[in-house]
Order: sequence, then C-alpha cells, then structure tokens
Amino acid sequence: MIIVSIANQKGGEGKTTTSINLADGIARRNKRTLLIDMDPQANSTGIFLNSDQIEKSMYHVFNSFAPVKEIIHKTKVENLDIAPSELKLAEMETRSSNTVEAPYILKDALSNLNNEYDICIIDCPPSLSIFTINALVASNYIIIPLQAEKFSIDGIIGLQGTVDNIKKRINPQLQILGALITQLKPQTLLTKTIVPVIVKFFRLFDTTISDGVSVGESNMARSSVYTYNKKSKQAQEYENFTEEVLNELEK
Ligand SMILES: Nc1ncnc2c1ncn2[C@@H]1O[C@H](COP(=O)(O)OP(=O)(O)O)[C@@H](O)[C@H]1O
Ligand SMILES: [Mg+2]
Repeated sequence: MIIVSIANQKGGEGKTTTSINLADGIARRNKRTLLIDMDPQANSTGIFLNSDQIEKSMYHVFNSFAPVKEIIHKTKVENLDIAPSELKLAEMETRSSNTVEAPYILKDALSNLNNEYDICIIDCPPSLSIFTINALVASNYIIIPLQAEKFSIDGIIGLQGTVDNIKKRINPQLQILGALITQLKPQTLLTKTIVPVIVKFFRLFDTTISDGVSVGESNMARSSVYTYNKKSKQAQEYENFTEEVLNELEK
C-alpha cells in the first residue's frame, strides 16, 4: 500500500479538496483506495458520511489503539473507503503527544492493512500537530497543496523543516512528490512573482487547479467535483492531476 499525505500547516490551501478529489479519481481508476481523515474538523468525512453513521473514528484509533479496520466505512464511490474523523479527536492532540509511541500510532495502525488497499490518502489538519507528524511518519510521499499567495510562502519553510526532520530521524523514505497550486486566479503579476519562489523549495506539478464555483457547489452537494459536474474545469483539472500523481507513483 502506497501512503500519500496531503499536508500544509496553513488552513484553506486546498488540502481537503485535493484529498477528496484525488482519492475519488484514483478509486475510479480501479485502485482500492482508503481516505483517512486526520483533521478533527472532519471536512472530508462530512462529504462521504452522515454524522449518525459514525460510531468510531480516528479518535478511537488514537485513544484506545482500536484497529483501523473497525472504523472504516465504505463510500458511495466504488473502491473508495474512508476512515472518518470527528471533533473530539482534537482532545487527543495534547494527550497523545506525551507518550513515546506518539509519532508511530498511525504507522502501527496501518501496518496490518497492507493487502487491503493499493493506495491510502491522508487529509492532514492545518497544523504541524502530532496528527500531521503521525501522517508523515506513516507516509511514503507528501503532496503540498498551496495557493500562489504571499502568506502561503511564509509557511513553506516550517513545513520543509518538519519534513527534513522526520526524514532524518524517523522516516528516511519520505519523499515530497510535489506541490500543487490550487485556487489559481487568472494569471496576475502576483502569481508570476510567487511561482518562481515556490519552485525554489518544491517541485511543482504541471497541473494547476483554478479557482471556480464548482468546488464549493460540489461541497454543498457532498460529492467530488467530478461526480458533481464532470464537465467543469476543476473536475478536468483534478482528473489531470490524478493522472500526473499515478504516473509519478509508477516511476
Ligand atoms: N479550486 C477551488 N476553487 C474554489 N474554491 C476552492 C478551490 N479549492 C478549494 N476551495 C475552497 O476553499 C476553501 C478551503 O479549501 P480546503 O480544501 O478546505 O482547504 P484546507 O483543507 O487546506 O483547509 C473551501 O471552502 C473550498 O471549498
Ligand atoms: Mg481541510
């Protein structure tokens, strides 16, 4: 099972949107896919499940070491399962940080799922908390969604430092697959000056995701943007992005 974290400690950069649409795109390409919601805000969970369907969540994995298998739900999308989150997971942020096994909880929990899925996508919270660290410790790859804005660049250095530390100390195989520019507005002078700065830090995917209403509308409809309107520009862009990611993973 290949594990890919979608991470950026800044909120609103497109992590959840990218996790949902990438996981959906991979599952539609007949790969057995698991989406893990590692954010207590549970935004990606809310797309696929009703809150009354959720008895156990990642909270139980972190709190009582419940096997991930016990919390996984099927989704309406064939080949796509989800390990949900819920708000009370936030309680574990301070409690689980105090233990020796803290960074390894997710890695251990995923180790007995190896034959059940081809690929696992982890939607990370907007912080460099113990949950993001768990995700990066468990992952083979990280994808960094970000907007081409000044404030987005400020956070990159912290993220790069965390990735380097985890590589050096715990998970040498972790690789940055690339950064994905999201919510791109029609080319402005700002974009033109910021993109060259980003590429000094990370490899950029060729695909960019433009800003458009179909993303917000698909959230309201609780589906991927492809299911909501496969003719929309963003659906097509996420299709291209999915192909690009799968090609990279096959290299
Ligand atoms: N390409 C896009 N076009 C328009 N709105 C977008 C796009 N991508 C994300 N959004 C919106 O921006 C907000 C933040 O995106 P989200 O994926 O939730 O970011 P994060 O998970 O990093 O906090 C959401 O309201 C989302 O619907
Ligand atoms: Mg999110």
